[in-house]
Amino acid sequence: MNSEVLFANTVERLQASRHVVIFTGAGISAESGIATFRDHLTGLWSRYDQQQLATSAAFVRDPGLVWGWYSWRRKLVGKAQPNDAHLAVVKLTQCLPRVTVITQNVDDLHERAGCKEVIHLHGNLASARCFECNRPYLGSLPVSTEPDGARQEPPYCSHCDGRIRPDVVWFGETLPEEGMMRAFAAACDCDVLLSIGTSGSVYPAARIPKLATEQGAWAVHINIEPTEASSDKVLVGPASLWLPRLAEALV
Ligand code: APR
Repeated sequence: MNSEVLFANTVERLQASRHVVIFTGAGISAESGIATFRDHLTGLWSRYDQQQLATSAAFVRDPGLVWGWYSWRRKLVGKAQPNDAHLAVVKLTQCLPRVTVITQNVDDLHERAGCKEVIHLHGNLASARCFECNRPYLGSLPVSTEPDGARQEPPYCSHCDGRIRPDVVWFGETLPEEGMMRAFAAACDCDVLLSIGTSGSVYPAARIPKLATEQGAWAVHINIEPTEASSDKVLVGPASLWLPRLAEALV
């Protein structure tokens, strides 16, 4: 479908919507300078093997490497600012009757743009918890002063003396139950779903657009390139182009 026709049809669907799901991936934060995962040149994984960093086995094997990597990512996020796509998501939540924002991202750019409620399926860099007893870590999470990618010893739990780990979902771990249930329920209930900046390569999160399509929702992908997960409805181009256009068309 031609992008301009698809854009116009999507505006109409949004104008008539009862419940919209906005589902985001690393691509929405790319224009804030935060590397995505699978971009060949800039992707976060291009420097490391994800199995060396984003698994509990990696943390047990080398907690300093894993904690150092996440401290580096926390520093990148701290330096980044929400971009026009994040701001347009806020406008959509303000001008539509009901919007559920679901993200795979562990940055807080949706919140810093002004989103009041965000379902973080893969956790959040801004918080941490004990690897042993799972209690939330209430201490401060200092921004790394180490050179990028340097090892950094994680703090210890004040309750059980276990090591503190990032509060993100690692490969092989289950997603936070409550967030996943709310996200899947929203996908099954919505009449429009906007999937923004995701390769759709990691499950179960990648099921969300499919659940929406299967129950008859109008599901549109916004991506700089069509992905194998995206259906025929793709607005090809940067999120910071299409989302502000959609928000402007609704006011
Ligand atoms: N606008 C829209 N899309 C973009 C932009 C942009 N400016 N820049 C990049 N993209 C697209 C890329 O084409 C790619 O399809 O964003 C997508 C990013 O894909 P990934 O890097 O795979 O990130 P994501 O889909 O969020 O990964 C899902 O995998 O590694 C795990 O837990 C991690 O949450 C992550 C999950």
